[in-house]
Amino acid sequence: MDYTVMLPAAGSGRRMGAGENKLFLPLAGKPILVRTLSVFQNDPDCAGIILAVRPDERERIREMLAAHGITKVTAMPAGGGERQDSVRACVRAFMEAGGKDDSVIMVHDAARPFLSRRVIRELAETVREHGAAIAAVPSKDTVKQVADGIVESTPDRSTVWLVQTPQAFRAGLLAEAEEKALEEGFIGTDESMLVERLGHPVRVVGSTYDNLKMTTKVDLAIGEALLKRQEE
Ligand code: C5P
Repeated sequence: MDYTVMLPAAGSGRRMGAGENKLFLPLAGKPILVRTLSVFQNDPDCAGIILAVRPDERERIREMLAAHGITKVTAMPAGGGERQDSVRACVRAFMEAGGKDDSVIMVHDAARPFLSRRVIRELAETVREHGAAIAAVPSKDTVKQVADGIVESTPDRSTVWLVQTPQAFRAGLLAEAEEKALEEGFIGTDESMLVERLGHPVRVVGSTYDNLKMTTKVDLAIGEALLKRQEE
């Protein structure tokens, strides 16, 4: 089932403390960005990749794509100050290139190289039928709401899910949600929040615990260990 993926890659990687975009860091010898792109490059259902980049990194990324045989990138719009701005730039580029309202699009963090083909397929199938679906795992830990260092409440753990990407949508629905959020000055921490604000139900697809986001040095160490295990 065909889909197009939007990859925001225009972050600064401050929490990684690498002094440059963390996506350039090697994970077992290959840049994180290349590892994530390869998942989609190798998926026959992926019709194209739209990559939001920092303008000063565009050339370096172009060279990286050529060196690693990544041919499915169809546009590289400039990202923005917030992740949401970068995603909106991708969605606009998709629509301007003639993308249809009922196409399936997925938003995926360029910093999550371990997603599985099974999760992508289930998301695409769910979106075809329902319009919006996100990858998530049940929380293994108890979650507390905390204010000023004091516990305020404890949600029932059986209802708490930790949300990842991909987050998949009918293109027209995400485009509408993005523009409404922009108009109203709302900044969310994921795309689902924007679609929830339209009142549209968002389905949850069970993902895997190893679909980690490379955010800090610890994540890199875990990522390297995961790759080693895959190679054994
Ligand atoms: O910082 P964080 O890891 O949450 O970023 C998630 C993804 O969003 C990364 O792939 C990062 O490059 C991207 N991003 C972006 N534009 C921003 C901030 C983050 O494209 N302004």
